[in-house]
Amino acid sequence: MHRAPAAILKRPLADSVDTSIHQPRDPNTLANYNAWRMRHVTANLEVDFEGKRVAGEVVLRMRRVERGDATVKLDTSFLDISEVKIAGKKANWELEDRMEPYGSQLSIEVPDNDAEDVELDITVSTTKECTALQWLEPAQTSNKKQPYMFSQCQAIHARSLFPCQDTPDVKATYDFNIRSPLPVLASGLPTGAKDFQPGKGDAPGTLLYTFHQPNPIPSYLFALASGDIASASIGPRSCICTGPEELVGAKWELEDSTEKFIQAAESIVYPYAWTTYNVLVLPPSFPYGGMENPIFTFATPTIISRDRENVDVIAHELAHSWSGNLVTNCSWEHFWLNEGWTVYLERRIQAAIHGEPHRDFSSIIGWKALSDSIANFGEDHEFTKLIVDLKGKDPDDAFSSVPYEKGFTFLYHLEKLLGKEKWDTFIPHYFTVFKHKSLDSYEFKATLLDFFSGDSTASKALQDLDWDTWFYKPGFPPKPDYDTSMVDACYALAEKWEALNTSESSISWRPSRIDILGWSANQSVVFLEKIQTLSKPLKPELVDEMGGMYKYSTSENVELVSRYCIVGLKAKAQSVYGPTVDLLGRVGRMKFVRPLYRGLKECDDKLAKTCFERNKDFYHPICRGMVEKDLFGEGRGG
Ligand code: BES
Ligand code: ZN
Repeated sequence: MHRAPAAILKRPLADSVDTSIHQPRDPNTLANYNAWRMRHVTANLEVDFEGKRVAGEVVLRMRRVERGDATVKLDTSFLDISEVKIAGKKANWELEDRMEPYGSQLSIEVPDNDAEDVELDITVSTTKECTALQWLEPAQTSNKKQPYMFSQCQAIHARSLFPCQDTPDVKATYDFNIRSPLPVLASGLPTGAKDFQPGKGDAPGTLLYTFHQPNPIPSYLFALASGDIASASIGPRSCICTGPEELVGAKWELEDSTEKFIQAAESIVYPYAWTTYNVLVLPPSFPYGGMENPIFTFATPTIISRDRENVDVIAHELAHSWSGNLVTNCSWEHFWLNEGWTVYLERRIQAAIHGEPHRDFSSIIGWKALSDSIANFGEDHEFTKLIVDLKGKDPDDAFSSVPYEKGFTFLYHLEKLLGKEKWDTFIPHYFTVFKHKSLDSYEFKATLLDFFSGDSTASKALQDLDWDTWFYKPGFPPKPDYDTSMVDACYALAEKWEALNTSESSISWRPSRIDILGWSANQSVVFLEKIQTLSKPLKPELVDEMGGMYKYSTSENVELVSRYCIVGLKAKAQSVYGPTVDLLGRVGRMKFVRPLYRGLKECDDKLAKTCFERNKDFYHPICRGMVEKDLFGEGRGG
């Protein structure tokens, strides 16, 4: 049953804003979005590979939601703005000084004080400082034939691509009209070839690629990629896009699971709302595992591990089609609503396809990631809370496994508290009430309490729940009781290695290939993570023996090799320094890069720094900035 709770109907919505609220609830935007709301964006842009910039004009249709404010204030970051027009006439505008980390506020005067809707036509170009784009030379791509470019806007980088209300609390529909000499993908549905005559300034072979996004989306889901991209089908409503040479491998990796994932998610929530679900596999410098850009999930090539063992990333990004892309956190302070829900759905999808023990197996891996994040920040750190305070902060700095895994643990706790059957009736309700909207954690709580208000048992359980502890207490949540059937063997093997490591030579057990016979790569991941937590690092010679015996040192699965390298770095085993440096030159996914640099720095500070200097142009600007902070501290700019 889908009921709209009374408390929620009164809440401010994008199109009926409660004018008594003047404080925007997102502290990471400089836009006055309580006065004006972006409703539709038309991006007429050209991809200029030569100049490494995206330029053109962006038309923002704005709706006035509060009288009396004759200025539209937008987010921008390192943009080159040359003109703003309203109704064909030049408008008055001003770019304020930069305010780190949020960029420069763009103020535009609206001449007609009574107009309800106004269209701002802004001529804009990105600059070299743009943090949302990476430009690759032909030599940096796999076939080395063509240049490549892609965007990554989450969390607050859309403002460095075009002026906008760069907050997840505002949603708009989009039209993309993109000119490029190479194939283009965007976060909309392709609308077919358009008649187009290249102009004088266009590079040879330039075509117009058009896309429409009919679902209102927040700015962080704006996405573009252009390069030598080919595509193949991976299901009835899905295709894979990647470099022509990688197409066959990438198709094999995903064609078995994608449609199954979509159907599993649909039976947990409700039908898929975005028509097609496609995956673009990017070059290796893509800084994340995946990014849930609508219609086209962007993914790291490290998921193409030739063993179909990393397709959980696709289940995750697909799950965002409901959690995040339809129902969105209203600010990055409530990021757990995006990621905790997505991890929850991702694991429900896995359970639906492979059985319940898989959900617990994945949750155990998640708990380790949570422990690592809490250890990195410290148990009392603000960023280990479910709801974080981001006033004056850069949301990228708060990024960790905490919102993912503490968020998941909270939802799992609610499932157990209410019982799965009851909880499952709430899932479609929640995703219906907030479809196309953004919310905070308090609205989540109100909706849940309201939904079960007629059920005295459930209601009592929810009233008795210590919400404040869940929301605001830093550090670990209570650890759920997971079924360990799939990890027991991994832990048992780790214990044998521990014994081998601590006793001189009194133990008779010797490692052998059959120790891991029949294991999945992810079971080896669990084993290696257990080894990482041993109180005494392994002896370097045991690291070498493990790498050779279990073939970890030569594996094609980066999840495996990187964890093996971490084990070696913790042991100061020189044999892994070379492979670590090699990996850092091949992969730019931050999940791997940052821990490897931290580990390498502990072993050999100079080696870590020279390795970074050599590879920094290969990394995405976000990754480069993060590693720079990790290696050199906050002080070193640029
Ligand atoms: N939306 C995130 C990636 C992201 C988060 C980019 C915050 C920028 C800022 C994406 O859905 C994600 O969580 N990716 C994970 C995948 C994993 C949890 C399966 C990743 O990149 O590792
Ligand atoms: Zn995610």
